[in-house]
Amino acid sequence: MNADVLSNCLEQAIPIVREAGKLLHDRVRSSSIQEKGKTDFVTAVDTAVQYFIRERLQKLDSSIQFMGEEQDNSSVEPDRLTWILDPVDGTTNLIHGFRHSAISLALAEGEQVLFGVVYDPFSEELFTAQLGHGAFCNHKPIHVSDVQTLSDSLCSVGTNPGSRDQADAAFRRMRAIYDCCHDIRRIGAASIELCYVACGRLDGYLEHGLRPWDFAAGKLILEEAGGAMTNFHGTAPFLYGDRSDIMASNGHIHADLRFLI
Ligand code: IPD
Ligand code: CA
Repeated sequence: MNADVLSNCLEQAIPIVREAGKLLHDRVRSSSIQEKGKTDFVTAVDTAVQYFIRERLQKLDSSIQFMGEEQDNSSVEPDRLTWILDPVDGTTNLIHGFRHSAISLALAEGEQVLFGVVYDPFSEELFTAQLGHGAFCNHKPIHVSDVQTLSDSLCSVGTNPGSRDQADAAFRRMRAIYDCCHDIRRIGAASIELCYVACGRLDGYLEHGLRPWDFAAGKLILEEAGGAMTNFHGTAPFLYGDRSDIMASNGHIHADLRFLI
């Protein structure tokens, strides 16, 4: 896809995401909850946002395939142009009225994310990036922090409530990082945590067992802001794999974070 077509696509997708953001304020739909697992939920907002965005994107270009959290993605083909959507990242936050949830939308070709949008309608922050063109928050350029050492850092560690079998290891990692940094944070929406590393509010973030829609858009936004994202082994996470253990940082503290865990 050439850069002009891509920019055009991004410009058309952003208003769709913004408009869908209004649905996240619907407290009636967000209290209509179903359990996908014991601590993994879907609300009527998640399904309404996915339906709205999917319909609108297909009207833009029906040849681009669609991967979304609230559907069966078994027929998605890895090497095609693909929208990757998390209609509500931070569903548990939404259910509890803890005002940190986002819509996360990426366009990818194979394993390469071409652009990413993360919109948090509660803070009214729109994070965007196009491959090779930098990262932005509400249209202003963003950059990762300049913090050089773990001992000067603020890090977020995700607890992935859907993978509680790995809680012991997750809390061991959290403790190890906590012992070496200023403090730990946890927002409860992977896409927002990645964007906060991208704009320098956090210096590092890690979480086990994330799905592609949790991190696809945030990955590009972070990388375009000068940061780094790998899995726990230091290699690139797969967009078409099942789950990935994600480590994100401003780049400077990446090796130390890896060494620690
Ligand atoms: C979840 C959030 C949460 C993370 C989970 C994700 P969801 O996404 O990003 O912070 O801990 O691993 O699944 O379910 O709210 O879309
Ligand atoms: Ca979700």
